[in-house]
Amino acid sequence: MSQLTQSAAWAALEQHQKSIAPQHMRDWFKADPQRAERMRLSAAGLTLDYSKNRANDETLSLLMDLAKQQGLNKLRVAMFSGETINNTEQRAVLHTALRANPSDSAWQPQADKIEAVQASLEKMRDFVEQVRAGQWHGYTGKAITDVVSIGIGGSFLGPKMASESLKPYWHESLSVHYVANVDGTAIADKLKGLDPETTLFVTSSKSFGTQETLANTLSARAWFYESGAGKQDVAKHFVAVTSNIKAATEFGIDENNLFPMWDWVGGRYSMWSAIGMPIALLIGFERFEEILKGAEAMDTHFMEAPIEQNMPVLMAMLGVWYANFFDSHAHVILSYDHYLRALPGYLQQLDMESNGKNVTRSGELVDYHTGPVIWGGEGTNGQHAYHQLLHQGTRVIPADFIMPLKSHNPIGEHHDMLASNCFGQTQALMQGKTLAEAQAELAGSQHSPEQLSLLAKHKVMPGNKPSNTILMERVTPYTLGALIALYEHRTFVQGVVWELNSFDQWGVELGKQLGNSVLSAIRDTHAEVELDASTEYLVNSFRQAKPQ
Ligand code: F6P
Repeated sequence: MSQLTQSAAWAALEQHQKSIAPQHMRDWFKADPQRAERMRLSAAGLTLDYSKNRANDETLSLLMDLAKQQGLNKLRVAMFSGETINNTEQRAVLHTALRANPSDSAWQPQADKIEAVQASLEKMRDFVEQVRAGQWHGYTGKAITDVVSIGIGGSFLGPKMASESLKPYWHESLSVHYVANVDGTAIADKLKGLDPETTLFVTSSKSFGTQETLANTLSARAWFYESGAGKQDVAKHFVAVTSNIKAATEFGIDENNLFPMWDWVGGRYSMWSAIGMPIALLIGFERFEEILKGAEAMDTHFMEAPIEQNMPVLMAMLGVWYANFFDSHAHVILSYDHYLRALPGYLQQLDMESNGKNVTRSGELVDYHTGPVIWGGEGTNGQHAYHQLLHQGTRVIPADFIMPLKSHNPIGEHHDMLASNCFGQTQALMQGKTLAEAQAELAGSQHSPEQLSLLAKHKVMPGNKPSNTILMERVTPYTLGALIALYEHRTFVQGVVWELNSFDQWGVELGKQLGNSVLSAIRDTHAEVELDASTEYLVNSFRQAKPQ
């Protein structure tokens, strides 16, 4: 057994769970009128209501004991002070430096990094302002009208999610398109209708070695050349964000068109760097800086607030409570805002690539569950699809409801209806419906007694399903920055408890390696590639179908 599962804090939670499990949140709310007020917290423009959780004051106190036991305070400081906490890659984890206030003396020990970040932001500002003002010209002298951002994973999900979230702030005539997948349809579809003379490509790749991104950039360049442009014109249409300057210049990107990334920023934590350039192109550099400010405010809260009143810590520890003590395997993100619809997809990478691990920092196999399956979607759509399982399914799936109080599009009563659905769902999940309530509802109906009894059973909702609700005034660059930083720190805290390195991603490597050897098998019948019988069949089927 691991030290963690044998520890005093873990054992206390296991014991405590036995007394909590039979209790119902509905009764807690009735018995304690102060519960909602006590279990509410505001920071960085966000308010978290965590009262609809299967937790009482003692639960929270025991969870905080676990966080302390696992060294949260020490590791939190270690991360912000640039220690190499990514121990398998020997790297610091300093995405927080990307949004640091440069005049904050706490950052003095990282002065070199802060200086590099500020220089990069200045270069970015200059470029973004030129493009947005129509002063960056393509090879025939025309202003840029379309930007195609090429990147995948962290070099795609953050910029795309933030761009969609901040649509009300978009430039009126500049469009940004995203291409990630190596499926040729993705880029072919995007390029249809674009004009090579007015299109700018931003290749975003920390490593500049990612198959999908390089293939898409090559296809983009081939499309560009087809228009009659030459090699000398590439510098006006291709820029890149990368930490691998050598690979990017060898690839043919002009050195002046390179924006830096650093090995101390993980891909899924990088939207605050020049990787976020497509966002800045759409919403303007000053608004991009607002995103950084919102994130910085959440960083300050995370660093300074006592852990008992710390939003990322509370959310993380409640997640641990369900994952490890209620055998919950999933966590659902429900954005009640159309602009935030890409958030669950973004959080999937952030959380699952960070904490989808089975080995501790020191290489021990874990004997407890780590990161859950993250999924979700846009409310109210999900209510007519998968909420059935949330309400009456057999699994505990904690939910995060995200609800801006004001809409960017206040049409008729739409926003009232949206909010009432959001809040009503949290209430239904919490209180459920008893058999007596279901029977009372059916009383006086035309059903036979047998049918009535059957129906009543089907209408029972157990309730006691946990949820958090996150409110914000409106989706703005600032609140979005705070929201993303909140989830980053939540992920970090859970990694601390589970003793994981949340900043590497070795699990994706084998798939990449085998994908490459399968590619040689697809290209060449004589390739010496070892394939199992199933994969061999798949490869042969593909080869036979291939046009000669
Ligand atoms: O395959 C996983 C991954 O390494 C992610 O962690 C990363 O965000 C993505 O690929 C893209 O990597 P890069 O920015 O180096 O192209």
